[in-house]
Amino acid sequence: MTGLFLDTLHGQAARERPIWLMRQAGRYLAEYRAVRASEPDFISFCLNPEKAVEVTLQPIDRFGFDAAIIFSDILMVPWALDRNVHFVTGEGPKLDSMVRGDEITESLMDGMSDRLSPVAEAITRCRAALQDDKALIGFAGAPWTIITYLLEGGSSRDFATARRWLWENDKRFDRLLETVGRATADFLTLQAEAGADALMLFDSWASAVPAHLRRKVVIDPVNSIIGMLRDRGVKQPVIGFPKGIGEGLVAYCNETDLQGVGIDHGVDLRWAAETLPSHITLQGNLDPLSLIAGGDAMACAIDDILDAMAGRPHIFNLGHGITPETPVSHVHDLLARVRGEDS
Ligand code: CP3
Repeated sequence: MTGLFLDTLHGQAARERPIWLMRQAGRYLAEYRAVRASEPDFISFCLNPEKAVEVTLQPIDRFGFDAAIIFSDILMVPWALDRNVHFVTGEGPKLDSMVRGDEITESLMDGMSDRLSPVAEAITRCRAALQDDKALIGFAGAPWTIITYLLEGGSSRDFATARRWLWENDKRFDRLLETVGRATADFLTLQAEAGADALMLFDSWASAVPAHLRRKVVIDPVNSIIGMLRDRGVKQPVIGFPKGIGEGLVAYCNETDLQGVGIDHGVDLRWAAETLPSHITLQGNLDPLSLIAGGDAMACAIDDILDAMAGRPHIFNLGHGITPETPVSHVHDLLARVRGEDS
């Protein structure tokens, strides 16, 4: 497998910039909404290989992005660990909180790969359907972000429970970090073996970790997961996305064995170009909300990113997921601008 995305992730600064968008399969697309309406339960939707393949390929067919990301969710791991994950319309994800002290047992861990096998099947089918030069990304949540959901029982404003466990140096937190790390490595191995060309670890709530604990909670778990993957012969490149950690990116890039790092839109890319090690491919970082505005404001922001990353391996992306309100025509404009075509 080669192609613009993988070549760039392997450190070659190509003549053209690869591009894909986080949450590119999603509600801003009418064809996604149509398939989604046929499967009211979000988890069943993710576990339906036929539908997962269909929506994964929709943004590739429509826009020709350089990479597809398998349609699944970071909460599939808590689901497979029997945490009763469900999605309530308008309220987001809900799951049974683990604060009462229940543990993730070995038998739950053992059964995980079987329960997640439909994701593997969707990946194998997607890989077969994609052109050779389009990459397929598999993904999982990073342990800290998954632990926030496990402890808070859903989305949270301040992650107070998870942070309190951190500060109280609760041994249960350390055990969770270890077991969730192993579960994450298992899920990524499953996806790599099924045919994913690259893997991504979303640490969406990394910004909630106090700075002095980032090494323990954000950086070390990434390395332990990559270590497990490499021990099992998984060779796929890995991208980390520690959203919102700002200056923490320096240690994150220098001290992890990642091939790529996602940069959110709070980071000045000129600072990133000067400061972050050049062996790491950077991915990002257009504010998804700029796609709602479109026009000159978006065009200037795109040019600024292209300029800041000139001469360095860079995968164009957003600083976070595309929003449901995004006009599809603005996505076409974005692609044309990045690819240097008239829109
Ligand atoms: O296109 C892609 O990027 C691939 C699919 C993907 C989804 N979720 C599908 C999805 C990916 C990569 C994710 C990752 C994910 N899921 C993250 C990390 C990235 C980030 O955004 O920070 C997180 C935190 C989650 C957890 C999650 N899943 C939330 C908070 C929600 C929103 C709930 C809501 O009601 O909006 C989801 C649901 C979800 N996952 C949707 C999609 C397209 C929307 C649900 C729908 O279609 O009804």
